[in-house]
Amino acid sequence: MQLLIVKDEAEFGQTAARLVCEFLAQKPESTLVFPTGNTPLSMYEELVAQFASEKVSFSRATLVELDDYYGIALQDPRNLFAWLQNIFLRQVDFRPVRLFRFNTEAEDAAAEAARMESILQAHGGIDLLVLGLGPNGHIGFNEPGSELLGATRVVNLTHESLISNARYWGEIDNVPSQGFTLGLNVLRKAAKTILLVNGSHKAGILKQMVEGPITDLLPATYLREMPNVLVLANAAAASLLSRKPSLLNEHD
Ligand code: F6R
Repeated sequence: MQLLIVKDEAEFGQTAARLVCEFLAQKPESTLVFPTGNTPLSMYEELVAQFASEKVSFSRATLVELDDYYGIALQDPRNLFAWLQNIFLRQVDFRPVRLFRFNTEAEDAAAEAARMESILQAHGGIDLLVLGLGPNGHIGFNEPGSELLGATRVVNLTHESLISNARYWGEIDNVPSQGFTLGLNVLRKAAKTILLVNGSHKAGILKQMVEGPITDLLPATYLREMPNVLVLANAAAASLLSRKPSLLNEHD
């Protein structure tokens, strides 16, 4: 696992977007899995800007949704795919037929989860996985206690995740209590993974993730056993790490 630390939010978004663009330049027909939330906002802003200046195209790529709230329709502002469409997908040139989302209203959740896994399988798995780090160490909605070989499924969100997500939806009662997530069984086989971590509120969990024991109680620690993982953190998030690589801009 490689750790890259950048100074501030602008550099964070630019670096994340540059890594995505470099990856797509090597393999334009990549299968991508990208996160929602606060962390990737500056990356999406930069990717949209790069697309507008014709420096990147997503027209040959496929995107498979990482996670979403179970029971929340696409028309509901809380639907995570709708969020991703507004922030990113509609502003670039993905082909609609190459976008795959969880049917959050599926009655048979197990069949829906299996369908998403088979889509990934048909595409040869994930080429580029970009993740955020949950305040409790979750990745996607793989909450503490998730097994390394856990499949794509519906999970009950932990109280900590509900509190964290209440920031977006006003109060905890508005936060859906269940979510679909791609399982660690498929995430762990991604050809390349970038974990994005920014802000001082993530400093404690990042330290545990990098320096603590590898445990299912902190699913992000599994990333340490995966091939080709890069953690991109800003200085605030990296502030509690015992051993820090130099700031990126010192090498530029
Ligand atoms: C969202 C997701 C979550 C978030 C994590 C961090 O699709 O998979 O794991 O990445 O909860 O959220 P933020 O970035 O809002 O702190």
